[in-house]
Amino acid sequence: MKGVNRQPLSNRIVHALTAISIFALFFTGLGQMPVYKRYMLTEVPGFAWTGDYTITLWWHYFFGVILIAVGVYHVTYHFMRKEFDIVPKKGDLKDSWLVIKAMFTGKEEPPSEKYLPEQRLGYAFIAFWIVVMVITGLIKTIKNVNGFDFSHGVLFWSAQLHNLGFFMLILGVFGHLAAFLFKPNRQLLPGMLWGKVSACYVKFRHPLWKEGKQEAEKIIQKLGGEKKACKD
Ligand code: HEM
Ligand code: HEM
Repeated sequence: MKGVNRQPLSNRIVHALTAISIFALFFTGLGQMPVYKRYMLTEVPGFAWTGDYTITLWWHYFFGVILIAVGVYHVTYHFMRKEFDIVPKKGDLKDSWLVIKAMFTGKEEPPSEKYLPEQRLGYAFIAFWIVVMVITGLIKTIKNVNGFDFSHGVLFWSAQLHNLGFFMLILGVFGHLAAFLFKPNRQLLPGMLWGKVSACYVKFRHPLWKEGKQEAEKIIQKLGGEKKACKD
């Protein structure tokens, strides 16, 4: 079926590059702990480099730079286009609870805008911890590369927050992926992969998303109306 345009190519590339760089930062950051020698990942053919501190550190810098560049692009792009659909709104905590409860009980959920309230909260959570990782990561990098003398307190807290952020982002990404265990949420997957989501899905779950709803109505009408187009 023809779908409603939801995620333009730019958003999909930003999402993919963010996901790839965060997974790579998880992996290379862990390498500096260092754990791969101890757990013998270094013995696996092709993985000997994971035990080399300098190599994992430089890959960590490399993906750090990608994450920062993508973040700057993302914020500038949406500010210039005045698109703030994903920024949390008042009442999101309560509404998230209602949406999640509805998924468990099968009852009707409150109507959503382009994003569900828990998606807006999820975005803010992940964005906040990425900012923490970037600031504390940059402090650690300046110390390493320039040998700049920060006070003991600044170094101590950067290291603690960088480690805490690592944990929080694992939680965030895990929670984000766990959301797709729920069937209704899986309808969003084609949007992030190919750009479009089903018109019936938009009509019933995101009726407060103006542009999306209009596009959905047109598609449904062309297909012979709601009864015919949205059977299941
Ligand atoms: C490090 C890994 C990842 C991060 C940090 C991340 C981050 C995000 C954020 C912040 C959002 C917007 C808020 C939300 O919908 O909750 C989002 C949306 C989304 N992500 Fe991810 N993501 C990651 C990996 C993945 C993976 C592996 C998939 C599966 C293919 C995926 C699929 C989606 C989908 C379907 C949406 C919803 C888009 C929409 O509402 O149209 N994400 N992601
Ligand atoms: C998702 C984002 C990130 C994650 C999950 C992450 C994770 C980690 C982990 C687990 C460590 C090892 C603990 C330690 O040595 O203190 C580490 C160290 C480090 N990270 Fe990150 N990091 C992220 C982003 C960044 C960024 C954006 C930068 C810089 C621009 C950065 C720079 C560093 C530096 C310099 C070290 C210390 C290396 C050392 O001196 O041993 N990180 N990171």
